[in-house]
Amino acid sequence: MERIVGIAEVRSFVRAEKAAGKTVAFVPTMGALHEGHGSCVAVAKSLADAVIVSIFVNPTQFGPAEDLSKYPRPLSKDLALCSDWGVGAVFVPEAKEMYPAEQDVWVEAERLSKPLCGRARIGHFRGVATVVLKLLNIVQPDVAVFGQKDAQQAVVIRAMAEQLDVPVRIVLSPTVREPDGLAMSSRNAYLTAEERARAPWIHRALLLGRELAARGERGAARVAAEMRREMEAHGIGEIEYIEIVGARDLSGLRRLEGRVLIAVAARVGKTRLIDNLVLEIKPDGAVEDAMLF
Ligand code: PAJ
Repeated sequence: MERIVGIAEVRSFVRAEKAAGKTVAFVPTMGALHEGHGSCVAVAKSLADAVIVSIFVNPTQFGPAEDLSKYPRPLSKDLALCSDWGVGAVFVPEAKEMYPAEQDVWVEAERLSKPLCGRARIGHFRGVATVVLKLLNIVQPDVAVFGQKDAQQAVVIRAMAEQLDVPVRIVLSPTVREPDGLAMSSRNAYLTAEERARAPWIHRALLLGRELAARGERGAARVAAEMRREMEAHGIGEIEYIEIVGARDLSGLRRLEGRVLIAVAARVGKTRLIDNLVLEIKPDGAVEDAMLF
């Protein structure tokens, strides 16, 4: 496995792969890798001949009061995992090459960045969309894989690729969970033992939402209220949002119909966690787990 730091070098690596007739899949990450990232790599491997992972803790997607400086950076462990996963090259750019001057040109998803996490994380999706477009322009993969765990991010990136004619296929990978249901996240490392024990109630509340839908409840506000009660009853008190939106355009829903994203953000101790569930509500009333796209 190659470890590549420079933009010119990763470009020539990809050029050589393509010249050899290989297809290239790309998995952008911020490192502190876990099995969630691993599943994105597995999907990438199933879709292309060579997989490139990037590890870059992107400063432009962190707000001034967020965890940029304390974000975990276990680089040698990450490189070993990528090697185990059969990654062809890991691109670990330096901030000074990614952002050599103050960034003046940005990718803004005007509408899709507004609801859900966009309410509290002003400028977050602008930073995400901008760095992902930069990385796609640098790597120029045939396909790029993102996790459904970060549902709004995936929807923003897919819209960016579609609306800016980026020649890449955007593919989703399902959320990987711990045995007790907690969605894997690099930020889980911040949780104390006591917080870690409470954290799965976010997922359990999502399962309650699914159960209510399966029993025929269609009122979005009632589902959200029951989920809130469930979380609060189990010590998840600092709920940032519980939103029930259309999976394609993230528009607020009054009734559960079609493909629905139920998304939660909550603080457990000081750590902000997000999770979601995507349901397909069939016209005959059947409720199935689904992918965003
Ligand atoms: P990061 O949080 O490191 O996540 C990298 C990719 O792994 C994202 O596509 C994310 O959705 C996916 N992922 C994380 N946890 C997952 C889980 N439990 N199951 C499945 N997939 C999971 O997301 C980012 O980095 C950044 O915003 C980035 C896109 C790299 C831009 O800086």
